[in-house]
Amino acid sequence: MLLAPSLLSANFANLAQDVETFNRSEADWLHLDVMDGVFVPNISFGFPVIEAIAPLCKKPLDVHLMTVQPERYTERVAALGAKVMSVHAEACNHLHRTLCQIREHGMLAGLVLNPHTPLDFAEDVLAEADIVMLMGVNPGFGGQRFIPRTLDRVRRLRRIINEQHASTLIEIDGGVNLETAPQLLSAGADILVAGSAVFGAEDPCEAAAKLKRVTSDK
Ligand code: DX5
Ligand code: ZN
Repeated sequence: MLLAPSLLSANFANLAQDVETFNRSEADWLHLDVMDGVFVPNISFGFPVIEAIAPLCKKPLDVHLMTVQPERYTERVAALGAKVMSVHAEACNHLHRTLCQIREHGMLAGLVLNPHTPLDFAEDVLAEADIVMLMGVNPGFGGQRFIPRTLDRVRRLRRIINEQHASTLIEIDGGVNLETAPQLLSAGADILVAGSAVFGAEDPCEAAAKLKRVTSDK
């Protein structure tokens, strides 16, 4: 399992220190939540902030765009050296084209589905998606309660991926903690994003280590 702590729950008055903490931890990718106040009812941070912290980060960047028309930012995300760029199906008129463009820019293409979006939206673009990320909460804020129905969505998505013999990874974002992580792994998740459960903890390194030790509850 890969663990991607979300910087959204870090101390914005001292991001450099939290990135250093992440570097020292057992976590794998740094998850960056970009919100535009239009696609989601919140504004987080944008390119100037990410460009300032990217050189400090010693591990891959996992960029989650919660913006309308995310395809406008492909080049800028690639220029950051990001490993993953994820876009919402609900925000893309030409999803297939956008996923292809992300790959052409040398990144893994991530497709994100909101809790209400049918899994059908992923079915015909699985060959173009390196990752399908299912939201475990409605996007926009950290620290929200996990939507239990997500577990069934993970199981169904795993079945669809297996049926197509695709190598797409399943990532979960929102509501991941020590209680939900084992259930998500059992259901078939590969990558877990955790904001408040890592950066909101008293000792983020210890919290990351505990989450990395989580195994499927079956
Ligand atoms: C929510 C963001 C998440 C958020 C998760 O819109 O996409 O990445 O940081 O926060 P937690 O883990 O606290 O639910
Ligand atoms: Zn996110």
